[in-house]
Amino acid sequence: MSTPVIAQDDKGIITAGSEGLTAMPVVIAIPKELTPGEQRVATVPEVVQNLTRSGYEVRIEHNAGTDAYYPDDLFIAAGAKIVSGRAELLNGARIVLRVQPPTPADVDQLAEGTIVIGFMNPANNLEAIARMRDRKVTAFALEFVPRITRAQSMDALSSQAMAGGYVAAILGADNCPKFLPMLMTAAGTIRPATVLILGAGVAGLMAIATAKRLGAIVLAYDVRRAAGEQVRSLGAKFLELEINAEGQGGYARELTPEEKEKEQQMVSAAVARADIVITTAAIPGRKAPVLITKETVATMHPGAVIIDLAAETGGNCELTQAGKTVKEHGVTIIGPQNLPARVPFHSSQMYAKNLQSFLALLVNKNGGIVREFTDEILVASLLVHAGTVRHGPTRDLLNGGKP
Ligand SMILES: NC(=O)c1ccc[n+]([C@@H]2O[C@H](COP(=O)([O-])OP(=O)(O)OC[C@H]3O[C@@H](n4cnc5c(N)ncnc54)[C@H](O)[C@@H]3O)[C@@H](O)[C@H]2O)c1
Repeated sequence: MSTPVIAQDDKGIITAGSEGLTAMPVVIAIPKELTPGEQRVATVPEVVQNLTRSGYEVRIEHNAGTDAYYPDDLFIAAGAKIVSGRAELLNGARIVLRVQPPTPADVDQLAEGTIVIGFMNPANNLEAIARMRDRKVTAFALEFVPRITRAQSMDALSSQAMAGGYVAAILGADNCPKFLPMLMTAAGTIRPATVLILGAGVAGLMAIATAKRLGAIVLAYDVRRAAGEQVRSLGAKFLELEINAEGQGGYARELTPEEKEKEQQMVSAAVARADIVITTAAIPGRKAPVLITKETVATMHPGAVIIDLAAETGGNCELTQAGKTVKEHGVTIIGPQNLPARVPFHSSQMYAKNLQSFLALLVNKNGGIVREFTDEILVASLLVHAGTVRHGPTRDLLNGGKP
């Protein structure tokens, strides 16, 4: 890759490849994440090394990686500059890499033309998005990177869902009063625990693989019939229902009322027999479907555990409370938030690699930042640019629901 350079005139207007202006490296800034509980960081030393070798200047806010176990000295050794305040971090920065969406106060510190890349959670972050629009900041939302083969290396939704699925299985095991594997001991034989996974997308498949490695009997269910093959390939049993609810783009569509009733009966019977239930069922842009009613919880045996990964979007279990652990009928129901942050070292590593791949789309063959975002991945993920909100549904939300 050629050295990414930009040129800046005396008014601070940044252009790519203009003649007669001083060429300077593109500055990438990485702020410390300030969202409570967020331990991840948007880049890691290995990626910094690649970026600096490619000619970028990488600036990292003091202690940005400490909670993910990437201390400042590792970043310095990789070629980054550590800076202690936001003003110094952002002064002249062309690109800002983040994990969590910027707050309105974060946006107020960004100069016109700055490119911010990260998760944007648009529906819950409208004020900051309006401010990015008004300040003519450019924002790319990683949640909108299309799930096409070419974009796999930038698919941060998948890398972080994998981390979440892994932690969910560990959390289930940690809260279960039973061993997960079958054990033949001098003190008798221990039967393996049964783990049921509802929703076999990226997080669900990782939870299945992890629970299998821990030795449990694993069953899984998904409305998409195509998920059955993946579930079986991991050595788990797929619960079959005569419904195929695969909708647009490989995501699930909403079920009809009759389909919901049938699904409910089958799922309830499996839930009642499970020691650990991990739910990951989601429909993009909508409230999570309720798969476990309070009546079903009452049929579970004491000591059973539910880990509800859909807690933040309403929960797959009726009794889930986001961010809390509740006990009902002897059943522990955990509604975790931000599970990837609980394995911050590897979540950050994968996220940083996703961002590195994404950044490659922004650099043209002369090493400048592309003037037009024409690549289909950039088009799909461009949330705000040049004073307009480019993502239609977010624009509608900002207009009070009116298109
Ligand atoms: N690059 C790629 O090609 C790529 C990358 C990642 C994911 N994908 C695909 O995208 C799709 C969505 O993956 P995701 O992990 O983001 O999904 P997601 O987080 O949107 O949903 C999780 C799972 O819940 C399931 N679900 C929804 N409603 C349900 C219900 N009522 N009962 C049971 N299960 C229900 C969904 O089918 C999905 O598998 C999958 O087909 C996945 O294989 C493709």
